[in-house]
Amino acid sequence: MSLAFSPDLMARTAPLYDRVKSVIPSIEWPAFAGDIDAILALKRERDAVILAHNYQTPEIFHCVADIVGDSLALAREAMKVDAGTIVLAGVHFMAETAKLLNPAKRVLIPDLGAGCSLAASITAADVRLLRQRYPGVPVVTYVNTSAAVKAESDICCTSGNAKKIVESLRVPKVIMLPDEYLAQNIAAETGVEIVTWAGHCEVHERFTAQDIRQLRAGHPGIVVLAHPECPPEVVGESDFTGSTAAMIDYVGLKRPARVVLVTECSMSDNVAVQHPGTEFIRPCNLCPHMKQITLPKIRHALETMQHEVTIDPAVAEPARRAVERMLEA
Ligand code: 13P
Ligand code: SF4
Repeated sequence: MSLAFSPDLMARTAPLYDRVKSVIPSIEWPAFAGDIDAILALKRERDAVILAHNYQTPEIFHCVADIVGDSLALAREAMKVDAGTIVLAGVHFMAETAKLLNPAKRVLIPDLGAGCSLAASITAADVRLLRQRYPGVPVVTYVNTSAAVKAESDICCTSGNAKKIVESLRVPKVIMLPDEYLAQNIAAETGVEIVTWAGHCEVHERFTAQDIRQLRAGHPGIVVLAHPECPPEVVGESDFTGSTAAMIDYVGLKRPARVVLVTECSMSDNVAVQHPGTEFIRPCNLCPHMKQITLPKIRHALETMQHEVTIDPAVAEPARRAVERMLEA
């Protein structure tokens, strides 16, 4: 395995560098090339595939990932994996969801500390208390939660299908957990009364309506795409709201001359690689959890087959049902 940046290594990784050269300076490439080369070999040796979320950095997203996507796509794709091992380059709830949907596979996360402020905001006991307070009201749980919280829920949703899931229940009132802003945004879209929880994404809650107005003033003609984890007033100032995958599709379809993705930093780098004709304005809010995942940690995960994600079977069964109901809705 190559450690130094030898001419051989340079030649082998040149086509990969070509993909990302617009977002990774050439001086930085030697720091990535050895790990990328090793990871590609290890994936074959270990019969492993890498699923990466859209917020992963470009050297992961474009150079070692087999499948990329939003939370919904990663869940669907995890179900179809034939390889023995899934490495989830994303956060812990995504790895748990992959394990729920494909329990026979070994699921590894390169850093067990890759959490999520939303998942950390609520426990299974909190959900049980809400059920007592609102008897008979269905509980819709965002996938950004632990398996234990999913297990207390009727059905899951992601940012990509939240509207559809809430409407599919055909009830006037639902409990939607734990993202207060997503719930408020979906209530406004559907007219369904929603009982919310005060959880927030620490990346999206930082954007303000004033930020959007300033962006428009400073960059005439800019198209503003916002993630629905943003506060409602930010969504109200935006041209389009959707999951990370929906934002990518929007750019691909509409080819705006100038765009801002009101979401995590790395998204713009990843999408810019594919759309050189679009100018991306990049206010940068990093997700510290997503950024726990690095090439050296992915390499280490494959070398040591750690850290394996397991779920208590008593929790896994009801949690899987809630995720499967979402996929079937
Ligand atoms: P999606 O990729 O499903 O839109 O979710 C964004 C997110 O914050 C995941 O952590
Ligand atoms: Fe959680 Fe927000 Fe980070 Fe996504 S971006 S993992 S919702 S903290």
